[in-house]
Amino acid sequence: KDLTVAILGATGAVGTRLIQQLADSTIPVGQIKLLASSRSAGETRQFRGQDVVVEEATNDSFDGVDLVLASAGGGVSKKFLPEAVKRGAVCVDNTSAFRMDPEVPLVVPEVNEQALYQHKGIIANPNCSTIQMVVALEPIRAAYGLNRVIVSTYQAASGAGQSAWNELDREAQEHLDGQEMHAEILPTKGDKKHYPLAFNLLPQIDVFEDDGYTHEEWKMIHETKKIMLGDMDAPDIKVTATCVRVPVAVGHGESVYFEVADDSATTPELQQKLADAPGVTLQDDPDHQIYPQPILAEGSRETFVGRVRPDQENKGAFNMWVVSDNLLKGAAWNTVQIAERLVADDLVRVP
Ligand code: A2P
Repeated sequence: KDLTVAILGATGAVGTRLIQQLADSTIPVGQIKLLASSRSAGETRQFRGQDVVVEEATNDSFDGVDLVLASAGGGVSKKFLPEAVKRGAVCVDNTSAFRMDPEVPLVVPEVNEQALYQHKGIIANPNCSTIQMVVALEPIRAAYGLNRVIVSTYQAASGAGQSAWNELDREAQEHLDGQEMHAEILPTKGDKKHYPLAFNLLPQIDVFEDDGYTHEEWKMIHETKKIMLGDMDAPDIKVTATCVRVPVAVGHGESVYFEVADDSATTPELQQKLADAPGVTLQDDPDHQIYPQPILAEGSRETFVGRVRPDQENKGAFNMWVVSDNLLKGAAWNTVQIAERLVADDLVRVP
């Protein structure tokens, strides 16, 4: 049956890609609703060649909707998604609002697609930097076991939304024009001070927790455990993270150190597992300077992996470099991919 699909946050950096990824998907869309705030109500966007008028989201917007794809911020999801579920809609949520709710599956289809069968109306899409890391780690975990992960991220401005991306462009121009750079959004809207990102690095993504880690780092640690092990506090894989915003528009990079349980693993074997893994493209040829880069990853649904090499001193330990389009696999594509699986497995219904 054809579905009525609503995109909540349709005018944002992720929302515009949700429209495009949905249009390119196998999902049978009968009717589309594009929802945003009152600020953009009345604007038009194209879906599969048709003009669609953007509407202000209200509870009633979800009447008759089968499937909601949401990326309008955590507060907006908390407000509307339970109402949408009451009206019979299944919601795939790209915000952090419900990710740690034990009733809500947190899904990366390449890793834990089976968790979709537990859904009660809402499915959470993980944080962008978590998704690309677990896509690369899962084939390694499945073959050799995984004891420890130490990750440092290099995250693009667009991960903080369209306004942060615009701010980076403006600051770069200000700097080139010899003017002072003005920051109003980054490192994060939710904190008191703001610093320029252009020609700079910001070791703060989201707000700080009491333990000195940022909330983004907390998400990478606990989301990884929930996706790979089914429990946000599972001790089996030790994870630590340092998250850094870099002056890149689109595409997150990650330096990932990991220790496997079966220390007979060799680098060529790991490379082969990665090359064969769904959603992964191996780009690893140092002799020809082939390695993943954000500007090469932009627009692709793949997670790119390169620089796979053994630690020189620690047996069973390796390093790799992982890059993906944070707006696609990190957000819009993973969300639409989940929706495709829901359709294929006949799970687009609230139990
Ligand atoms: P709008 O364009 O009307 O502000 P981004 O992640 O790029 O910052 O985009 C955020 C998205 O969430 C936009 O589509 C934005 O719509 C939407 N949004 C923000 N606040 C609300 C709200 N209160 N209700 C519905 N949509 C919202």
